Amino acid sequence: MNIAEIIALKNKRKMTMLTAYDYPIAELVDRVGIDMILVGDSLANVVLGLDSTTKVGMQEMLHHAKAVTRAVKNALVIGDMPYDSYQVNPEECVKNAQRFITEAGCQAVKLEWFEHCLEVTGKIIKAGIPVMGHIGLTPQTVDKIGGFKVQCKDAEAAQRLIKQAVELEEIGCFSVVLECLPDKIAEFITKKIKIPTIGIGAGVHCDGQVLVIHDMLGLFARYTPKFVKKYIDLSPLITKAVNDFKNEVIQEKFPTDQHSFSIKEEELEKIKSLNLKSGTKYSSG
Ligand code: KIV
Repeated sequence: MNIAEIIALKNKRKMTMLTAYDYPIAELVDRVGIDMILVGDSLANVVLGLDSTTKVGMQEMLHHAKAVTRAVKNALVIGDMPYDSYQVNPEECVKNAQRFITEAGCQAVKLEWFEHCLEVTGKIIKAGIPVMGHIGLTPQTVDKIGGFKVQCKDAEAAQRLIKQAVELEEIGCFSVVLECLPDKIAEFITKKIKIPTIGIGAGVHCDGQVLVIHDMLGLFARYTPKFVKKYIDLSPLITKAVNDFKNEVIQEKFPTDQHSFSIKEEELEKIKSLNLKSGTKYSSG
């Protein structure tokens, strides 16, 4: 998948995007044929146990992005710009975006909307790096948008959001994430702009859908937003497997012969006949 192929899918078929943060999951997701893989800063919450996405930095993001790109053969891999890579140090934004491409092997970056978003996005696009925008509920600036709740419930807020989507298209973003907003507003934006909209909690009319993989696999128990569908609940399955391991080790049911290595009986007899005493010196050969 490349940027042109993603854009060309608009009005042809719905697009799919999932997050991934490591090699084994990225390999599975890619093998299924998911169009885009986002190395999201949700890494902070679902993998690193932090309470805010603002607490994850470039080092952690690059470390995980590299693991993902090592596994992926087909999907477009997008690195999520962490808070301090462009909001704390806007002058560092191009350098940091470039690191996702050259060091980690991503094809694009994603940036959440904030006060100076257009200026920063413009600089990154000018440097030749494809950018996916992100509007609506933007967790990095959650204090400024009134908390983790549905965005643009009134006409004035909806107008602001529509304007942001149009501006992101005009500045050259190849796509935009719409997070947690009424489905009719997402539909309006999707029809208004020519670049694909990827929804999360934004209804069925978006051009594509994204979910955090730990949410849809049932691997993140701290909270589950209304817009998450758990396609499987892996937590109890993993808990059972770990418990079975614990019990089998204690009861000496694991390992069995099937998981062990043997030695010929005659060799064993030779070792026994050596009559080794403690303190015996062994040659290193
Ligand atoms: O970090 C992330 O996982 C995201 C998605 C929710 C779009 O930004």
